[in-house]
Amino acid sequence: MAKRSAAIEHSTSEVIQALLESLKAHDPYTYGHCRRVGRNALLFAEALGLNPFEQKIAEAVGSLHDIGKIGVPEGILRKQDRLSESEDKLMREHVAKGIAILRPLSHIPFFKAVSTPIRHHHERIDGKGYPDGLKGDDIPFLAKLITIVDALDAMTTNRPYREGNSIEYAYEELKKHSGTQFDAQLVETFLKEHPAWGEIPEEISAHGIAQISRKSG
Ligand SMILES: [Fe+2]
Repeated sequence: MAKRSAAIEHSTSEVIQALLESLKAHDPYTYGHCRRVGRNALLFAEALGLNPFEQKIAEAVGSLHDIGKIGVPEGILRKQDRLSESEDKLMREHVAKGIAILRPLSHIPFFKAVSTPIRHHHERIDGKGYPDGLKGDDIPFLAKLITIVDALDAMTTNRPYREGNSIEYAYEELKKHSGTQFDAQLVETFLKEHPAWGEIPEEISAHGIAQISRKSG
């Protein structure tokens, strides 16, 4: 039985990696972003004292949160200028597309648990997010966690057309939008814990293939 459950856990990691490989073929930047967000989501979940199963779910939510961008045209993903209304609509559809990609796995409790926070990773505490405009504690906890990790990575990474902001700037932005965009309590913990996490390992930041979890061996 132990052997069987180890095999299942192993295949969960491989399914995630396979999905990420498809994303990488379409958009290497989003692939790297997802890998980094997965890594930091795991560290954040550990720091918050979540149990090991919840930590694995947090890591998978981070790794797969933007998987639906496979379905967003490259030209929109790489556009430097502001998106038009119709382009923005297509971009927002990455959430529904991500859920659709994961749907065939939803009979597996692990992936079912991963899907809901992914659906809500663009909600805001003040209810002005999407797709459902959920407010405050109606937003699933892991969705609120990912939103912070996601925003930090988006602000601080270099893109071909602009240099990433400093970490100090990103911390200030999190504070500024704490309680409106982000959960205030989670921002407070994140700001305390994040400085100790160190640099993102090269094999993650350079889009390399590595184990999803530093604990999965
Ligand atoms: Fe997203």
